[in-house]
Amino acid sequence: MDSGKQITFPLMMSVGAAVIGSLQFGYNTGVINAPQKIIEKFINETWFERYQDPITKNSLTAIWSISVSIFSVGGIFGSFSVGLFVNRFGRRNSMLMANVLSFIAATLMGFSKMASSWEMLIVGRFVVGLYSGLSTGFVPMYVGEVSPTSLRGALGTLHQLGIVVGILIAQVFGMESIMGNDDLWPLLLGFIFIPAVLQCILLPLCPKSPRFLLINKNEENKAKAVLKKLRGTTDVSADMQEMKEESRQMMREKKVTIPELFRSHLYRQPLLIAVVLQLSQQLSGINAVFYYSTRIFEKAGVEQPVYATIGAGVVNTAFTVVSLFVVERAGRRSLHLLGLLGMAGSAVLMTIAMALLDQLKWMSYLCIVAIFSFVAFFEIGPGPIPWFIVAELFSQGPRPSAIAVAGLSNWTANFIVGMGFQYIEELCGPYVFVIFTVLLLLFFIFTYFKVPETKGRTFDEISAGFRQTAATGGEKHSPEELNSLGADSQL
Ligand code: GLC
Repeated sequence: MDSGKQITFPLMMSVGAAVIGSLQFGYNTGVINAPQKIIEKFINETWFERYQDPITKNSLTAIWSISVSIFSVGGIFGSFSVGLFVNRFGRRNSMLMANVLSFIAATLMGFSKMASSWEMLIVGRFVVGLYSGLSTGFVPMYVGEVSPTSLRGALGTLHQLGIVVGILIAQVFGMESIMGNDDLWPLLLGFIFIPAVLQCILLPLCPKSPRFLLINKNEENKAKAVLKKLRGTTDVSADMQEMKEESRQMMREKKVTIPELFRSHLYRQPLLIAVVLQLSQQLSGINAVFYYSTRIFEKAGVEQPVYATIGAGVVNTAFTVVSLFVVERAGRRSLHLLGLLGMAGSAVLMTIAMALLDQLKWMSYLCIVAIFSFVAFFEIGPGPIPWFIVAELFSQGPRPSAIAVAGLSNWTANFIVGMGFQYIEELCGPYVFVIFTVLLLLFFIFTYFKVPETKGRTFDEISAGFRQTAATGGEKHSPEELNSLGADSQL
């Protein structure tokens, strides 16, 4: 397979414009961490102005927690609404329209200080959460549908790369010397305006998803023209053939609503896999690190916790790049397994370091190493893979509904970890990561027995594999058998 030829400018431009949405999601995940004290001060002052009374500690904690976590509530609603848009307006136009939400959120958050209103901050976080939830559906779907089969994993990983770069930019911008200070924090939050403008300029220059054009709209000539541009060649018959095959299949399946997705035994296996993979991403405990790393490092006696947090952001980005280059060679299944096991090992190391901290001072270094390796292993597999594998596990008919259900599971688990971690930590102390270790091992076992390899297989081959499993009574097949079932259907 000559992937060199397949990386064309129109393809990179389309993927690049799409993943601005991922960048926005990452930015808003990371942005609220560093300036916590400064924004709390603003809430305190505003409260005093209004009520001539200082705010109680409980009210302040409540307002702060809501400001942080309402983002994931927005994400839950956004991700679940993906299906309402993508078939009606198309993938590209849906991404474009979602920017209205970014502009509203940027205005609300950017002017909250001027208007002395922390309510605007909270509503703004909710609205940008809606945008992010929609993006986590739109982006992997569009990227999966414009990519050639041999690059689908690598380009799919760019969604995660957008997220981690967003987190890193937010961590750096949030430093006190840049925008994490009394005067500039509204600008730090309102900054999302700029990527939104950029995406609005770039997306209209990108093609619509060829699968959407052919399979949903039945516009064969347009789909062909788009494919020629994306692939940089006039011979797109193989791609067209495969899409038509999927289209024929879809005539039989039609559009699949969410209740139908749950009812049909055809989708039971891929749906279970999609949901559990999303849960494995969030319940691995990764956002315990990204929401609370500064606090964890502080507790571990690290002298400059903010820099250690930025260090985690750098490691996070570096290893996403590693995954990008190996995912088409090593495959999704093996990288996910390796990532989960490595995270479990790192979590054990972290627990040992935390537990022995009082006796041995140098354990704080071990703690940094453990967190960095936890993050590195996350990005090898559990970070990028769940996001794009859902688009791979389903054909065009059920894909939007499946992505909505998977997104909902992801964001709900994200919310639970974000809200619950601090409380559980108070209960378990240094042993809090033991819970994640157990969960990681369970997810490892599930992946080992249930998740098939999707590398190098067309969408149609993958769903044919599941169809045949369902037809033969399913559950008993190993991933290897599934692979060969998929391959057989091609003959
Ligand atoms: C994944 C997760 C997100 C997390 C990020 C960390 O994209 O979905 O919640 O913050 O990885 O890199």
